[in-house]
Amino acid sequence: MKATEVLMDEHKGILAMLDTLEKACEAIQAREMSELRRIEQILEFFSVFAHACHFGKEEDIFFPAVERLGEVLEGWPTSALRHEHVLVQGVFSGMRAPLKEFEKNPLNSVFRFLPNAREYIGLLRDHIREEEKVLFPMVDAHMSVGEQEHLSEEFGKIERSILNRCGKSLVRGEDGLPVLAASTGSPDTPEQGA
Ligand SMILES: [Fe+2]
Ligand SMILES: [Fe+2]
Repeated sequence: MKATEVLMDEHKGILAMLDTLEKACEAIQAREMSELRRIEQILEFFSVFAHACHFGKEEDIFFPAVERLGEVLEGWPTSALRHEHVLVQGVFSGMRAPLKEFEKNPLNSVFRFLPNAREYIGLLRDHIREEEKVLFPMVDAHMSVGEQEHLSEEFGKIERSILNRCGKSLVRGEDGLPVLAASTGSPDTPEQGA
């Protein structure tokens, strides 16, 4: 599989989870507080799958390969995309922090959570759209399939290493989208080929 195909496949999972988060926010806004129980699981997906695994693959493997294309993609601002990753994760922290105080002050906690969650959803959707509409087509036009497949293999190493460290594994739901599950293996197992 080409690197851009792997990343777009992951985007589908991330976008679907953003839709789930958006629906949960609407329910919480309508005072259906039972929805809060699902939030921690949703946030863990973004923390592990979107930030650590997906952003990690882009920042450590994909963007450097794009930058090596040099003149062909001259002026392409991978630095702007890296900066957006930082922004997205900053807003994520702002969304997660108030929930830690939920027991003490539920309403205040929810009112601080909701605007951050909506900002996070918007930022991450825009970021994904930008990568898919502009960057990936340029990469597909200028990077060989062989090089892209090599990047995909490197992606696999990063993903296994991160999931192993977190004690998580990825499974596919009935809809084919990625779901985080508790790992059945030991988190201390040395990473093969990493
Ligand atoms: Fe990205
Ligand atoms: Fe991405």
